[in-house]
Amino acid sequence: MDNRPALPPEIARRRTFAIISHPDAGKTTLTEKFLLFGGAIQMAGQVRAKGEARRTRSDFMQMEKDRGISVSASAMSFDFKNFRFNLVDTPGHSDFSEDTYRTLTAVDAAVMVIDGAKGVESQTRKLFEVCRLRDLPILTFCNKMDRESRDTFEIIDEIQENLAIDVTPASWPIGVGRDFLGCYDLLRDRLELIDRADRNRVAESIAIDGLDDPKMADHVPAHLLEKLREEVEMARELLPALDPQAVLEGHMTPIWFGSAINSFGVRELMEGIGTYGPEPQVQKAQPREIAPEEGKVTGFVFKVQANMDPKHRDRVAFVRLASGHFERGMKLTHVRSKKTMAITNPVLFLASDRELAEEAWAGDIIGIPNHGQLRIGDTLTEGEMLRVAGIPSFAPELLQTCRAGDPMKAKHLDKALSQFAEEGAAKVFKPTFGSGFIVGVVGALQFEVLASRIEMEYGLPVRFEPSQFTSARWMAGDKAAVEAFAAKNKQHLATDNDGDLVYLTRMQWDIDRVERDHPEIRLTATKEMM
Ligand code: G4P
Repeated sequence: MDNRPALPPEIARRRTFAIISHPDAGKTTLTEKFLLFGGAIQMAGQVRAKGEARRTRSDFMQMEKDRGISVSASAMSFDFKNFRFNLVDTPGHSDFSEDTYRTLTAVDAAVMVIDGAKGVESQTRKLFEVCRLRDLPILTFCNKMDRESRDTFEIIDEIQENLAIDVTPASWPIGVGRDFLGCYDLLRDRLELIDRADRNRVAESIAIDGLDDPKMADHVPAHLLEKLREEVEMARELLPALDPQAVLEGHMTPIWFGSAINSFGVRELMEGIGTYGPEPQVQKAQPREIAPEEGKVTGFVFKVQANMDPKHRDRVAFVRLASGHFERGMKLTHVRSKKTMAITNPVLFLASDRELAEEAWAGDIIGIPNHGQLRIGDTLTEGEMLRVAGIPSFAPELLQTCRAGDPMKAKHLDKALSQFAEEGAAKVFKPTFGSGFIVGVVGALQFEVLASRIEMEYGLPVRFEPSQFTSARWMAGDKAAVEAFAAKNKQHLATDNDGDLVYLTRMQWDIDRVERDHPEIRLTATKEMM
């Protein structure tokens, strides 16, 4: 990271990140305030309001709303100061962890939001672990400080202990709950005071000359000031100082305290993302890595979303640009098929609405409407045969048989399921033996989502029934051995949507036995999507 050349300014100013949090910690509220300060919306509340309007368009979205979970991920771009932020939304529910995992392959950093009263919760921890697998830099926002929350040292300790990462305070809260007054900005020696009268107003910021500045007493009551001085002194002694390199390497997280709903602390966090967050990073690929400053455009698909607009039945492939300067109308090579695609109507997800992207740079996320050519894991280049690595497909943990309510429509079901497989919403296996489809997902809720989407989008009622199988493994290894095995075990075999061979079984014991008896065959629980 150190010896890299300076990036062109347009690329260097990009910050592409996701927010990870436990449901209810305040991700939506924080996103709204980001957009508010990013000038993308005039008034906070629009994201939700807009979401509502969009959701009424389909029952699928209705379901999302009823359950209070976000099933689909999207991307939003906005400017703050000199920076261009690309915020990629992650589905929060644990049932959609695979989708979340892939989303996190498209970002350079994560903002971890925790609730000041609850600390590190289960979903935060899971998502954090995913970030850690990729050494993603993490910036932390401790939200809801306007409510009764835990002691500041206790919160920091909990993060350090639970997540095994160094925590350094970027701000320090003054008072708590109803007495919460604001924060002392440890990085810039400023006093930030909360404005409770207007939730959308930016709180007051006062430059001061250290904690002993007499000006402090004008704003902070004596007992709170004394406590603040004591705590900050202790924090400076006990906690590590901010080390930007350690942040970039993912070993240290700076923490800001605030209240998203009161717009408090959000600007400081945004400045922090700009100052300490990473620039677009080098992307792992085969046969070589891709550096963002390379002149030629490369990008990869990390998400496909179908039927975003039911009127058009389009699919949008979300592409993270890994290098170069993209311009609308460019012809890019779709590496998997070796075909050239003219990208004539790319969209940028500006918070207001989707908009045609005239240009984009490494780090940006663009949407490419298409009819199914683009799949998750696909790489686009200006001709070089590069393939982005590391976008996994996981073996599903739950399998069910899917049948059309009307047997005459079985063919439509084939089409619908294959589309969802391409979207990455489910694994679809066609058994070599017998009829029907076996659908695999990571979380049970996905079956309901699928059934409701197939009905909505294809007018096709379907039933999910228990399958005789509980595990699926991709088969790899010596080709002749795999074929010989396949010929003898037809009742256990299926093909996935890409035509790859899959071994289905009821017992882990079976998997162990196959591996033991056939050392030249490998059964794998993940497959890299290419
Ligand atoms: P999520 O996306 O992470 O699930 O959380 P979301 O932003 O929806 O926030 C969850 C709840 O917490 C919301 O309340 C929201 O208003 C509240 N909240 C967010 N930030 C703060 C904060 O800084 N202080 C306080 N006190 N509350 C905060 P709700 O009642 O579920 O929804 P709503 O009726 O307020 O929209």
